[in-house]
Amino acid sequence: MADLSVRICGIEFKNPIIPASGVFGYGREYEQYYPLSKLGGIATKGTTGTKRTGNLPPRVAETPAGMLNSVGLQNPGIDAFLANELPHLLSAGTVILANIAGSTPEECAEVAAKLDRTDVHMIELNISCPNVKQGGAAFGTSCTAAAGVTRAVRQATKKPLVVKLSPNVTSITEIAKAVEAEGADALSLINTLLGMRIDLRTRRPVLHNNMGGLSGPAVFPVAVRMVWQVANAVSLPVIGMGGVMSGEDAAELMAAGASAVQVGTAIVQDPYAPLRIIDELNAWLDANHIASAAELTGSVRPW
Ligand SMILES: Cc1cc2nc3c(=O)[nH]c(=O)nc-3n(C[C@H](O)[C@H](O)[C@H](O)COP(=O)(O)O)c2cc1C
Repeated sequence: MADLSVRICGIEFKNPIIPASGVFGYGREYEQYYPLSKLGGIATKGTTGTKRTGNLPPRVAETPAGMLNSVGLQNPGIDAFLANELPHLLSAGTVILANIAGSTPEECAEVAAKLDRTDVHMIELNISCPNVKQGGAAFGTSCTAAAGVTRAVRQATKKPLVVKLSPNVTSITEIAKAVEAEGADALSLINTLLGMRIDLRTRRPVLHNNMGGLSGPAVFPVAVRMVWQVANAVSLPVIGMGGVMSGEDAAELMAAGASAVQVGTAIVQDPYAPLRIIDELNAWLDANHIASAAELTGSVRPW
């Protein structure tokens, strides 16, 4: 049995596999299948300053080797999260990453300040959401906006701050460096890639929002590339995600530079996916005589 534990920002994860934000809610639906304590951690659904209902349906669609979603940030708001969800999550026996978002840096900072007064282990700041003050362009697509929202949240909390990067940019390393300079403790990537499909019978886009985020195996090579680029550009730990479906995918993302791996779309397909991926990673490490998962991180040998 290999040692699966990893350490990020001084926090010990019993294994490197974490359900990604937005596909696992607050874990309640999954407890009927297995104890949440088996997971390395849980990234919660994105929480905003006030309740949001998300986008109109249809808001998910299957695509070849993946899915499109435009759920939007449907969530009950930070106060309801703190009252109704966080105590339960904190008793689950795993690391909790509270994923947060907002339309302004102030909203993100307000949510972070409320979480700062709790026992949550880490805050994951999603900078893929539109910044209303900058004409709706996502925070994560400009260095200035990414730096600004990171600065605001950094001032609001001493919790380990993971900034989750958008792949919808020309140079992800520039954004990563901008966020590192403002005090992020770790980075996670990738969020979904902007996509669109049209139903030719009706000529309607398949999503009511017209465009949506592409995830699943289709984006895996993009995730490997971006994790590798970012891990080499900054000195922060990186949590990788994007299309991980198997233990070998997780090992590959770690070889590219990830210290831990989040799993999203695979869980939409199969609620047991995280447990299967943990077992497969373990078996792969044993078969390859690698004593610990942590040894994999950044072990790629580029040509
Ligand atoms: C239905 C759905 C909802 C999502 N909601 C969020 C969210 O609220 N916050 C966030 O940071 N990422 C969200 N994501 C992005 C995922 O956390 C992840 O970054 C992305 O899907 C890539 O990983 P995957 O290919 O394993 O799904 C969502 C993804 C999906 C499919």
